[in-house]
Amino acid sequence: MIKKRMNDVNVTGKTVLVRVDFNVPIEDGVITDDNRIRQALPTLENLLERRAKVVCFSHLGRVKTEDDKSGKSLDIVAKKLAEHLGKKVKFVPETRGKTLETAIAALKAGEIMMFENTRFEDIEGKKESKNDENLGRYWASLGDVFINDAFGTAHREHASNVGIATYIDESAAGLLLEKEIDFIGNAIENPKRPFVAILGGVKVSDKIGVIRNLLKKADRVLIGGGMSYTFMRAQGYEIGTSVVEDDKLDLARTLLDEGKDKLVLPIDFKLTKAFDNDAPIRIAARDEFSKEEMGLDVGPKTIEKYQELLTGAKTVVWNGPVGVFEMSNFAKGTIAICETLANLNEATTIIGGGDSAAAAIKFGYETSFSHISTGGGASLEYLEGKTLPGVACLDNR
Ligand code: 3PG
Repeated sequence: MIKKRMNDVNVTGKTVLVRVDFNVPIEDGVITDDNRIRQALPTLENLLERRAKVVCFSHLGRVKTEDDKSGKSLDIVAKKLAEHLGKKVKFVPETRGKTLETAIAALKAGEIMMFENTRFEDIEGKKESKNDENLGRYWASLGDVFINDAFGTAHREHASNVGIATYIDESAAGLLLEKEIDFIGNAIENPKRPFVAILGGVKVSDKIGVIRNLLKKADRVLIGGGMSYTFMRAQGYEIGTSVVEDDKLDLARTLLDEGKDKLVLPIDFKLTKAFDNDAPIRIAARDEFSKEEMGLDVGPKTIEKYQELLTGAKTVVWNGPVGVFEMSNFAKGTIAICETLANLNEATTIIGGGDSAAAAIKFGYETSFSHISTGGGASLEYLEGKTLPGVACLDNR
C-alpha cells in the first residue's frame, strides 16, 4: 500500500483522531455483533501503548431527523469498547462545541475518549454525509494526527474521513484498514493462482461491477444464492417462484457471454413451495423446477462440484451466501462453503464482508479464514476495482 501507515507516524503525546467504523447491529439496546469493535482493538491498543491521546469516533446508522437519533447514540458502543480495552473510555454525547473541546483538552497521554455519532451532523444540511468543508475543518482542528481505521466506511466521501484528512497536517491508515487493503488488494491485483471467486446474494444488480471485475481477474467465478435464478431464467430455464430480476435478464446474458466457462452456475437446488423453514423440501436438478417451486439453497451435486473446483485453489474470495442461511434447512450450502474454505490450508481465503461474513461467524468459522472483511459496501466496491475515497484521501508514504 502506498499510503502512510500508522506505525510510520510519531503519535506519542499527540492528540490522535481515529475514525473507526462502529456501525454495529443493536437490538433492544444490546449490541448483537461486536466484530467491528473487536477488529479495531489492535489499532487503539497500539496508539494507547505509544502514549497517544486517542479521540475516536464513528457513525451509527443513518440519521435524517431528530427522531432518527433515538437508539443511535454511541454511548453503549463506548461502554462495549471500554469492556474490550479493559480501561475507561470517556464518552462525550456531542459532535462539536465547548464540552467536546474541553474533554479533548483534558485528555492525557495513554487515555481514550469517544464522541457522539458523526451522522447526528446530518440533521441540518447533511453536513457529515456531504463532506461539509466547515465540519471537516472543525473536526481536523481538534487533533494533531488523523488515523483512518474505518474500512467499512471507506467507500464514503464524508467529513469524518475525507474532510478531516484534507484539513489536518498528517494522516495515515490504521492497522485494520491496512490489513483490509493488503488482503483484498493483493487478491485482486496479485493473486496466487488458481484464484477462485464465489459470489452469492440475492441480486445480480448489486454485484454487476464485482462479477465483471472478477471475471477479468479470477480463474473461476462460482455463482450461488438468489442471483443464480436470474442467470438461469436468462438461459431459458423454468425457475418457478424463485427470486428473479426480470429487468436484468439481458445483463445476465451479457455476463454469461463474457464469462463463458469461467462463470459457473449451480446444477441442483433445494426446492420448496413456501418461504418457510418447515415447508417440505425436494432436491432437484436445474431443469426440474415446477411452476410452484422456489430454490432456497444449492443442492448436494453443486456442493460437490464447487468443492472440486476449489481444490488446489491458492486464492479464494467469497462474497454473498449461496442459500437462505438464516433458515437452518437452507443453510447447508453456505456451511459447506465455510467448511471447504476452512480446509484449504494452502490458500489465502478472504470473506468479503456483509452477509457472508455474518454467516461465517454465525456458523463458528470466525478464525478459519485468512481474512474476514469488516466492510460490506466498501469491500464490494474494492472488489470492483474502484478507488475508495477514505483511503485515497490519506497521506502517501
Ligand atoms: C456499513 O455498514 O456498510 C458501513 O458502516 C457504511 O454504512 P452506510 O452504508 O450507512 O454508509
